[in-house]
Amino acid sequence: MHERILIVDFGSQYTQLIARRVREHEIFSEVVPAHKAHLSLGDDLRGIILSGGPASAYEKGAPDLDRTVLEAEVPILGICYGMQWMCETMGGKVVPGEQREFGFTEMKVPEVSPLFEGVAEDTVVWMSHGDRVESLPEGFVRLAHTADCPEAAVGDPSRNLYGLQFHPEVAHTHEGDRLLENFLRKICQCRGDWAPADLAQELIARVKEQVGETGEIVLGLSGGVDSSIVGAICQAAIGSRCHAIFVDTGLLRAGERDIVKSTFKDHFELDLTVVDAADRFLGKLAGQTDPERKRKIIGHEFVDIFREQATRFENAHFLGQGTLYPDVIESVPAHGGATEVIKSHHNVGGLPDDLDMELVEPLRLLFKDEVRDLGRVLGLPEEMVARQPFPGPGLAVRCVGDCTVDRIERLREADRIVREELETRGEHDGVWQYFAVLTGARSVGVMGDKRTYEEACAIRCVQSSDGMTADWVYPSRECLQAISSRIINGIRGINRVVLDITSKPPGTIEWE
Ligand code: XMP
Repeated sequence: MHERILIVDFGSQYTQLIARRVREHEIFSEVVPAHKAHLSLGDDLRGIILSGGPASAYEKGAPDLDRTVLEAEVPILGICYGMQWMCETMGGKVVPGEQREFGFTEMKVPEVSPLFEGVAEDTVVWMSHGDRVESLPEGFVRLAHTADCPEAAVGDPSRNLYGLQFHPEVAHTHEGDRLLENFLRKICQCRGDWAPADLAQELIARVKEQVGETGEIVLGLSGGVDSSIVGAICQAAIGSRCHAIFVDTGLLRAGERDIVKSTFKDHFELDLTVVDAADRFLGKLAGQTDPERKRKIIGHEFVDIFREQATRFENAHFLGQGTLYPDVIESVPAHGGATEVIKSHHNVGGLPDDLDMELVEPLRLLFKDEVRDLGRVLGLPEEMVARQPFPGPGLAVRCVGDCTVDRIERLREADRIVREELETRGEHDGVWQYFAVLTGARSVGVMGDKRTYEEACAIRCVQSSDGMTADWVYPSRECLQAISSRIINGIRGINRVVLDITSKPPGTIEWE
């Protein structure tokens, strides 16, 4: 049995990020919805973290917890709404703040406390709140304040109860990791007895349990990192009862189909089927220009193919997918709330309501870099684990507008050139993604004394650690020059090459 931290979810968009931070300290954590938290107490519990959330603690019907959670006699750290709930419940008062605080905020830490040990007196934290704690419960003291928030951090160190108005889990809080480490290691006294290898074993065991003795999985294999790792997990869990289906959508990168086939032959014993479906996908996409509509069409086509394939096997009632956490939060409104759908990631947002297969998504709560580490633990080769991400809908989301055969072919060739130039110069090292985009914008040019009026192609290179945020990367002038002249000289229909210098946010990594 591992030491366990319970993360109580009040509906914050950062809850899984808290879980991830706890994992980084090699401590096992369990995320539970607030109304079920009291069912997850136990001897292995070392501490509780209460997440933030969109509600106001003083409102009628605000998310609540069974009081036994407060009586669990383990340290508790409340974050944002979690802190406000704790203060309000224990006799303090929460009120709407006169000033809302969002983003980077300077904070003063005049008090010495176990939670702030080693943290500078002047530090910068990430705030995102409208309400604030006005009066503290008995026994609590102020530990830190900002200009607009007197109770930025509070606590009762004698009872190991702490509350933070800011978010220590986001990278923007300069010393957030130190605070979490203090809470986990010093206050909860966790030693860190949980490693990525344990995670691999847990995921394998869960798939085994979900599928049972006779169930079979149809696994949508894209050749990318995520679905490959799901393949390794399913293989370890149920062996030949997992049937991998690789769909040639006609939207793949140059050489992709052959690379996937040969890497799989070398490293897996999975039953692999390659389905030729370029005509189906391109046929359905003809004339479609709305990005969400394109994504939905592709998602549905994939599912139809997986369903058809499933009929070949007696017990294939399960659909395996490489869905990751960022795909989930950007595709579905969080917790039924007002969160915007940014994009319908193809394996989440494109699923029909009447899907008669149960989903097997072992990576659903993980972030990309964690998944890569998992792949290494599972013994997958570095060339597979370190591959740049390639979205399920393929080149369609990089081909702004209509995905005609000609335009996809043009983009595929431009993409090959971008990859070749960065890779042969070693400039791809450490770059998260590098690819070409067909922008749909036409402009006037001159070639061989002749006027041209053709498309612009964009070069997109970004750095990121999990795909949630990203910064643009500047390849060398020589590299850009080579890409530009090879594309314009070699590809009919493109007469201009531009560099995309937009970070995420405000942009997204893919153009559609
Ligand atoms: P965005 O464009 O949302 O992309 O900033 C973030 C990361 O996710 C990848 N991506 C997808 N991956 N299915 C996937 O499997 C999808 O539908 C999808 N859309 C975007 C994208 O390449 C980037 O790494």
